[in-house]
Amino acid sequence: MYILKSKYEVSDFVSMFRSNSKTIGFVPTMGALHKGHIALIYKSLEECDICIASIFVNPTQFNNPDDLEKYPRTEAADFAMLEQAGCHAVFFPSVLEMYPEPDTRVFEFDGLDAVMEGAFRPGHFNGVAQVVSKLFDAVRPNKAFFGQKDFQQLAVIRFITKKYLAELNIEIVACETVRESDGLAMSSRNVRLTPECRHAAADISRILVWVKSHFTSKSVEEIHKFVQTEFAKQPLLHLEYFEIADNDTLTSITEGKILTGRFTACIAAYAGDVRLIDNMPL
Ligand code: PAF
Repeated sequence: MYILKSKYEVSDFVSMFRSNSKTIGFVPTMGALHKGHIALIYKSLEECDICIASIFVNPTQFNNPDDLEKYPRTEAADFAMLEQAGCHAVFFPSVLEMYPEPDTRVFEFDGLDAVMEGAFRPGHFNGVAQVVSKLFDAVRPNKAFFGQKDFQQLAVIRFITKKYLAELNIEIVACETVRESDGLAMSSRNVRLTPECRHAAADISRILVWVKSHFTSKSVEEIHKFVQTEFAKQPLLHLEYFEIADNDTLTSITEGKILTGRFTACIAAYAGDVRLIDNMPL
C-alpha cells in the first residue's frame, strides 16, 4: 500500500490509473480505524478498481479544542488495517499540506446545518465541507464512501457535492452502520469509553431499536417521552438531543403520528465525557 503525503503525489497516483480507464473509490477518514471503516474499504473495492483512503484529523471541524486534542491517533495500526483490507493507497497529509493558509470559505447548506449536530457544534459542517472539498479535489474519485452513522454529515456532503463540486462528478455511496454485538455503533470515540460507560452506551442503540419498532403504533410525543425516561434511568448517559428527522430536509417531527415519508431517529448523547451519535432509519 502506498502512503501518499502530498496532493501532488495523490494526483500522480490517481492519474496513472485513470489513464488506464480504472475507476477510483475514495474512503475519507480521520483515522482510529475500526470495522466500520474497513466495511467502507470493502465496499469501495467491490465497486471500484482502485481504493484510496485518507487519514486526516481535520482541525477546522472541531469546535471544541479539547475534543480535537483527545481525538485518538493510531496511524501505525490504521495503515496495517488498510493494507490488510486490500486498500491500494492512503493519503496521509499534514495540517500544513491541507491548510497552507487559513481556509476562509463559508459554505451554504440550505438549512441542513441548522439542526442536530449543526446546532450543537457550530461551524462543524463548514469545517467538514472545507476538508471534503479539498480531499475530493485532490483525489477526484469516481465514488466516495461514507457511513450512515453520520446521517447528517452524509446529507451535507451529498448537498455540497451537488452544489459546489458538481464538475468533479463524484457519486456519494452510503454504507450501513456497523455495530458491536450489543448494538453499539462502531466509532473511533468508543476506545475512550470507560468499561462502565461502554456498557451503558449500548442503551443508545437499544432505545433506537425500540423507536423503530414502535413508531407506527405510538405518537411522536409518546416516543419522545419514552426516550427521555430511558435516559433519565441511566446516570452514565446524558442525552443531548433526540430527533425524528426527515431524510431529505432533516427537519424534525415533534408531534402527531408518522404516517408517510422517510424519517430517521437520531440521538446524540454523552457516555461519561465521550460524545456519541447514532441513528436508525424508520
Ligand atoms: O466522518 C469523518 O471521519 C470526517 O468527518 C470526514 C468526512 C473524514 C471529514 O474530516
